[in-house]
Amino acid sequence: MISKETVKALAKELRGKRVLELGAGSGILAHHLEKHGVNIVTVDNGSWGGKWKVYHRTITDDAMNYFNKNKKKFDVIIMSWPNYEQPLAYKIAKRLSANHELIYQGEAYGGCTADDNFHRLWDDRMIDDKKFNARMEKVNIRFDGIHDSWYKLKRRL
Ligand SMILES: C[S@@+](CC[C@H](N)C(=O)[O-])C[C@H]1O[C@@H](n2cnc3c(N)ncnc32)[C@H](O)[C@@H]1O
Repeated sequence: MISKETVKALAKELRGKRVLELGAGSGILAHHLEKHGVNIVTVDNGSWGGKWKVYHRTITDDAMNYFNKNKKKFDVIIMSWPNYEQPLAYKIAKRLSANHELIYQGEAYGGCTADDNFHRLWDDRMIDDKKFNARMEKVNIRFDGIHDSWYKLKRRL
């Protein structure tokens, strides 16, 4: 779930960086981040079905395809609620460069976002920024029974 406080806190982290949101869905997060001065491009392949109101001018493409061609243009990749048991988050995380940051909103291992390979890769080859996670936790709101948080991950060197 996003709130004004979440958007403000996230925008503070992202202003001045080139941000790519993959699997952006309706683009509502990007829409609000942009209003707070964040330079953000959104990509979605439309597999969600197009039944939501669309908030952001989103590039219709496969996320992996777009990322492979354009990854050098971005500093930060956002993946918010990547589909459960689908490999996209894993594939993206595997191909991050050392200077990329991945902002992931979702559940941890055993939860209902991304797949086990993503969580294993996170444990084995990535490091998360605990200070970022704690700052975001202060403003994070979630539905009952849902355990999603904001995390910033980088490749372990
Ligand atoms: C669970 S929804 C999350 C949407 C949004 N990020 C949010 O948090 O509300 C997952 C999104 O990923 C998109 N998606 C799934 N696989 C994709 C792919 N290979 N390339 C691009 N978008 C993809 C779907 O169309 C959908 O909009």
